Amino acid sequence: MKNFFNLTDNELLIEYQKLLENYNEYKSLNLNLNMSRGKPCSEQLDLSTGLLNVLSTKEDCINKDGIDCRNYGINDGLPEMKEFISELTGIDKENFIVGGNSSLSMMFDTISYFITHGSSGSIPWGKGGKIKFLCPSPGYDRHFAISEFFGMEMIEIPMKKDGPDMDLIEKHVSEDSSVKGIWCVPKYSNPQGITYSDEVVKRFAKLKPAAKDFKIIWDNAYFVHDLTDEETPLLNIIDECKKYGNEELPIVFYSTSKITFPGAGVAFMACLGQNLKDFKKMYSIKTVGFDKLNQLRHIKFLKNKATLLNYMKKHREILNIKFKIVIDCLNKEFKDNPILRWNNPKGGYFVSVDTDLKCAKRVVELCKELGVVLTGAGATYPYKKDRNDTNIRLAPTFLSENELKTAIKLFCLCVKLAFIEKRIKNQNKKEV
Ligand SMILES: Cc1ncc(COP(=O)(O)O)c(C=O)c1O
Repeated sequence: MKNFFNLTDNELLIEYQKLLENYNEYKSLNLNLNMSRGKPCSEQLDLSTGLLNVLSTKEDCINKDGIDCRNYGINDGLPEMKEFISELTGIDKENFIVGGNSSLSMMFDTISYFITHGSSGSIPWGKGGKIKFLCPSPGYDRHFAISEFFGMEMIEIPMKKDGPDMDLIEKHVSEDSSVKGIWCVPKYSNPQGITYSDEVVKRFAKLKPAAKDFKIIWDNAYFVHDLTDEETPLLNIIDECKKYGNEELPIVFYSTSKITFPGAGVAFMACLGQNLKDFKKMYSIKTVGFDKLNQLRHIKFLKNKATLLNYMKKHREILNIKFKIVIDCLNKEFKDNPILRWNNPKGGYFVSVDTDLKCAKRVVELCKELGVVLTGAGATYPYKKDRNDTNIRLAPTFLSENELKTAIKLFCLCVKLAFIEKRIKNQNKKEV
């Protein structure tokens, strides 16, 4: 394998011509390979087909307490669903609201509520001037989209190996009362697969915000989504916050979207004190009740923590093959040619890569022309602006194994082409 950093300009040009020929051959194939979103593949969805059959009679629709789940009522979720999520997360069942099909929509509701109604008697965020939100980056594009939708100013917080840069967070949070919150994906983060260390979680719990109504949006979307047999531990943010009298700081979210059916799963939120009272009230006004039949279906199908974890192993068997295809290919192509860096995640849904020479946009563009669709370069940053034009999120889960092999091979080809183009461009600039 040639190390591009050791090649002369002339050697690089020869390499470029070869790669370009290869590229043009693939162009004529009219491929359509989508690696842009973290969606389960159909074999994963097949694992949950049984979910569709667990309710077939009237009797099946009655819960353990005799509630007829075909009807209105039980606004904050079935008790057995609260027990299930409590067993999984170690958070008291009384602190949960079981929602509808999407945790993201509960996050949207949460932000929207603070904007219109505020928290614990503080002025609503929407009435107190500019709101700033901290955005660990690279991060989840849809979090940033919510902040943007509500006109917040987003502040980028760099990610470190064990979570976001806490020095910077502490500084912003303690000095600026217009900083109202932070987006966190604390376990197997989207896209880097980073799990926050104990120290990071404890520092979150000890924050001393200048804003009395500061909130930590703790989106634990990948809480049981391990890719190895060893679970990566994450401290319970609610317990930690309680130790420092900060119990109203965190609002945590989970869902079964990537356990059963995305878009047709069950979402959960947990919080304490006034937050819990406020959101229970808000949901009692927003809906006459979420889909209890879906909650019942899920509990009958997933049963308990032991069966759920066993079931996640089946997902893991499918996903491991996909992640291995990607990591093996990246190793083969770039181990001795370090023009790309990547993470090797122990869980979650993504491989995050960083290009050299600021050419992520060009890589995505070259891939697109071949029919390989990637998440837009920059999408993992606030305002879709990656100042260094470096990061690309790869989502290996949805494609079939063969499709993925082709897609990742072509991705590597495009990384090489984009790197040489940029090297030559930079060289020309120097000469001018
Ligand atoms: C970090 C994160 N949070 C939330 C979601 C969406 O969750 P839900 O389907 O429960 O709305 C995703 C989906 O990709 C995600 O990656």
